[in-house]
Amino acid sequence: MDGAGIPGATTRFGKKKAMRKLHDRYFRQAKREGRLARSVYKLEELDRRERLFRPGDTVLDLGASPGSWLEYILEAVGPEGVVCAVDIRPIHKKFKGKATFLLCDARELSGDEFAAQAPDGFDALVSDMAPNTSGIRIVDQSRSLDLGRTAFALALRLLRKGGNFVCKVFCGPETGAFRSEILRYFRTVRFRKPSACREESMEAYIVGLDFLAGDLKQAVSK
Ligand SMILES: C[S@@+](CC[C@H](N)C(=O)[O-])C[C@H]1O[C@@H](n2cnc3c(N)ncnc32)[C@H](O)[C@@H]1O
Repeated sequence: MDGAGIPGATTRFGKKKAMRKLHDRYFRQAKREGRLARSVYKLEELDRRERLFRPGDTVLDLGASPGSWLEYILEAVGPEGVVCAVDIRPIHKKFKGKATFLLCDARELSGDEFAAQAPDGFDALVSDMAPNTSGIRIVDQSRSLDLGRTAFALALRLLRKGGNFVCKVFCGPETGAFRSEILRYFRTVRFRKPSACREESMEAYIVGLDFLAGDLKQAVSK
């Protein structure tokens, strides 16, 4: 077998991917530090730069499996905080702190599911949801945008005024228009590619800070 001897590699492409993993500094760091996934360093950098979470916050984490963001957020919000996590895949690890997990497709959520945990709205909604990639850029960008729009629609419904929003996107021709749409609803919008994102990846994050709720911006700067 082509990838024999390399954990997780069973084909030539699998071997390439597995080799890349072994040489990836964030992958090795995650292993060393006992983190569930290297993605945690993306959120850590976003939080360091934007101060997304505070002790006692209530946070919705979309696309939460295997749970590295969930674990990070639970530490950031502390014992008084609450995190609701959603994914179509299970989360196997048990965490310290107040967390609930819904095994479901975020596109099927109405928002009412969280009435008990966040009666006054969430302080932050983060989405690291990503589609299964096809390798066809335009298809993957469009699927990612669909998930981004799902997260944004839920943010408009579920964030409290002043809340924060983070959303993964696979950058493509429609990303600019999506960003401008988000800009109408948040005092500040930033476009970030944390250093843990692979150079060659089209992945980036749109960060909306300070949700305006009903007070929409009149003029939209693009
Ligand atoms: C990059 S992973 C998330 C990693 C996670 N943030 C962590 O740090 O452990 C993307 C996740 O999005 C989930 N996902 C994709 N489409 C989804 C959907 N429609 N609803 C819920 N989750 C979805 C996938 O199952 C996958 O677990």
